[in-house]
Amino acid sequence: MTGSAVQSSDGVAVITGGGQGLGRAFAHALAGTGRAVAIVDRNGENAAKVAQEIEAAGGRACGYAVDVASEDEVTSAKERIAGDLGTVEILVNNAAIFSTLEMGPFTDISPTTWRKVIDVNVTGTFLCCQAFVPVMVGNGYGKVINISSATVFTGRPGYLHYVTSKAAILGLTRSLASEVGRFGVRVNAITPGSTETEVERATITPAARERMAADTALRRVQVPEDLVGTVVFLAGKASDFITGQTINVDGGLAFH
Ligand SMILES: NC(=O)c1ccc[n+]([C@@H]2O[C@H](COP(=O)([O-])OP(=O)(O)OC[C@H]3O[C@@H](n4cnc5c(N)ncnc54)[C@H](O)[C@@H]3O)[C@@H](O)[C@H]2O)c1
Repeated sequence: MTGSAVQSSDGVAVITGGGQGLGRAFAHALAGTGRAVAIVDRNGENAAKVAQEIEAAGGRACGYAVDVASEDEVTSAKERIAGDLGTVEILVNNAAIFSTLEMGPFTDISPTTWRKVIDVNVTGTFLCCQAFVPVMVGNGYGKVINISSATVFTGRPGYLHYVTSKAAILGLTRSLASEVGRFGVRVNAITPGSTETEVERATITPAARERMAADTALRRVQVPEDLVGTVVFLAGKASDFITGQTINVDGGLAFH
């Protein structure tokens, strides 16, 4: 039997950066499909809070305080998740330095800040893939969903470190997809447009977001619910013949 023919319906979903914002919405959505979810976040308090929200709604979830840029912490989380919740089938690489990031001319970005952004946004994604994809390969089935950004297509100024890190995620997605597809593991990316969440951001004012929305085909501000359908689709069986792809979800700003 080939890997692609095998699927368990109850594998665990790991959502990195699930303690707030988009990751929190993805965790709730995947829990809503009946899966146990592991919320992995550097902010352990937030991770635990989201896990409690899911449990209160009748789902199964655990929160883990993990820095995705730390190999040791990711490896230890992998062991704990397996013991607490079971076999991982879905990995949503969503954690990133994003809402806390300062925008500015590229000449003002210090090498320290540059390295930190690449370390978390790119190496963190790589380390989580390295930890969890072999589990999926061992089971002959799995889904990796990498959260990139539509800024890769629009090249937003003042964000050179961030946009560079998110472009790397598209290369990682294609390369890993071509490496692990034969083992039944699908790897795809989503590029969200600017999305309003419960988290305040210094990098975008409500007026700027309205202006951005006015440039989209659908002409309204993007909210997390606009992205969960794509995450649930890529996590589920309906997308089993899709891998190595990037799905742009931005209301029609960039045409990819
Ligand atoms: N909201 C948007 O407009 C938008 C648009 C395009 C792409 N994205 C991407 O979507 C994802 C989520 O965005 P968001 O708006 O929810 O961002 P956010 O900044 O509100 O949340 C990011 C989460 O990641 C966690 N995190 C940061 N560094 C970490 C680390 N080293 N280890 C573990 N967890 C860490 C944070 O604690 C936080 O919970 C990010 O990858 C972001 O780049 C967001």
